[in-house]
Amino acid sequence: VDSSAWDERYRRGDPWGSAPHGVVREVAEALPPGRALDVAAGDGRHTLWLAHRGWTVDAVDFSAVAMERGEHRAAQQGLATRTRWHVADVVGDPLPAGPFDLVVVAYLQLTAPRLAVAVTAACRRLAPGGTAVLVGHDVSNLRDGVGGPQDATVLWDADDVAAAARAGGLAVLEAGVRERAVPGDLPGDALAGRTARDAVVVARRPG
Ligand SMILES: C[S@@+](CC[C@H](N)C(=O)[O-])C[C@H]1O[C@@H](n2cnc3c(N)ncnc32)[C@H](O)[C@@H]1O
Repeated sequence: VDSSAWDERYRRGDPWGSAPHGVVREVAEALPPGRALDVAAGDGRHTLWLAHRGWTVDAVDFSAVAMERGEHRAAQQGLATRTRWHVADVVGDPLPAGPFDLVVVAYLQLTAPRLAVAVTAACRRLAPGGTAVLVGHDVSNLRDGVGGPQDATVLWDADDVAAAARAGGLAVLEAGVRERAVPGDLPGDALAGRTARDAVVVARRPG
């Protein structure tokens, strides 16, 4: 999927809402605010949530439409000075310099070698003591879960992602699958009551 397909998706609306993923919330709530890097940030639900909590955040995504939407929302919410929006390819382009206290990668569904490049590069941007929270649709989601891409080659394996974090110099605190209730509460919604399966890795740079 190239950036124009994502641009089209963001032009059509608000695909991910404004609530952060539960594990991003859990990890960030335990940290004092600092500098964060949101990799493949989309229209910025994590960037904006973090900025509301006092973080200064660099959001990166190759969809220019997503970055424009994020920047617009930030301005509306009084968060313009705490957020920066970069249009870039997180596999091929350099990431913002940092150092960062927190790296978030959420639902960047790329093939394992490309994902590893992005994850390792992002983890290298962490300061000593900095934390990475990495979450994506797990490969087991295809059979036992719900939602996400239906292509196994872009689904996550927590062990592979953990290896990419270690290659970036981090110690892995958690690597595994977490289930997530899907809020499909509309009458007749086929997804209602189903459980999505996310690969989750939490890691920290020693120091
Ligand atoms: C499913 S969305 C997740 C957005 C956000 N992280 C969230 O959780 O709300 C995946 C995002 O990855 C971005 N993306 C995919 N491949 C990318 C790449 N190579 N470089 C930069 N962004 C990429 C897409 O533009 C899209 O915004």
